[in-house]
Amino acid sequence: MHISHTIPEWLDRRRRLEGRSIGFVPTMGALHHGHASLVERCRKENEVAVASIFVNPSQFNDPRDLERYPRTVEADLGLLRELGMDEVLMPTAADLYPQGYRFRIEAEGLTSSMEGVHRPGFFQGVMTVVLKLLNLVRADRAYFGEKDFQQLRIVTEMAAEFFVPTEIVACPTVRESSGLAASSRNVLLSDGARAQAALIHRALTAAATADEARAALEAAGFRVDYVEDRWGRRFAAAFLEGVRLIDNVPVGDGREGAYAAVP
Ligand code: PAF
Repeated sequence: MHISHTIPEWLDRRRRLEGRSIGFVPTMGALHHGHASLVERCRKENEVAVASIFVNPSQFNDPRDLERYPRTVEADLGLLRELGMDEVLMPTAADLYPQGYRFRIEAEGLTSSMEGVHRPGFFQGVMTVVLKLLNLVRADRAYFGEKDFQQLRIVTEMAAEFFVPTEIVACPTVRESSGLAASSRNVLLSDGARAQAALIHRALTAAATADEARAALEAAGFRVDYVEDRWGRRFAAAFLEGVRLIDNVPVGDGREGAYAAVP
């Protein structure tokens, strides 16, 4: 596994990969089972697997959240090595934003609900860094999890509208056996809160309406940002012990029966 710490180094590596199919998994590190499933699929479908680790400052509207974001680089590299990753790109903020955050992508409409409302600037930051990374990696396929469904949808539409020649591949949410969606933020929860956090998935799947799911979460002590039905899915964002968790499940005809549980 080769690690590129600078963009010139990466571009040199990239030149040597010409002619082979490339899969890309962009991450902010703090890797978990969800990322592992993206990497496994990426490896299966491409000759070369590339991952990036970059905690993107432009998508954090709260500096405390950025500071608190888990950073586990050594463990991340160990896991990627174990999973057979070929190339890792680990740029610095100065590499990706050499003149600061001068250019940013805006999307009309898609960012005016849910995460876009509660995290101002979040999607601008995500779209901007994802476009930079897609341009640097020039992959055949890039893998994104359905846990961040609104992000997945926005990135898919952005890539299409900017004629990015990379297919955006949607991958199912990986869950713990309790139903809790795998997330980098789960490690910030105490054991008790981690067990309680599984209620988000239970409430989303069991409640008849979004309002009912919201009431169940509030009754259990969550501070709820939103519970909302949209695009045939039910979405929630809620805080537990000050940690913001999000999840979504299909509703109506597409209602979830079983899910890919991990030990
Ligand atoms: O989902 C994430 O981890 C991030 O939003 C992404 C896509 C790597 C962009 O920083």
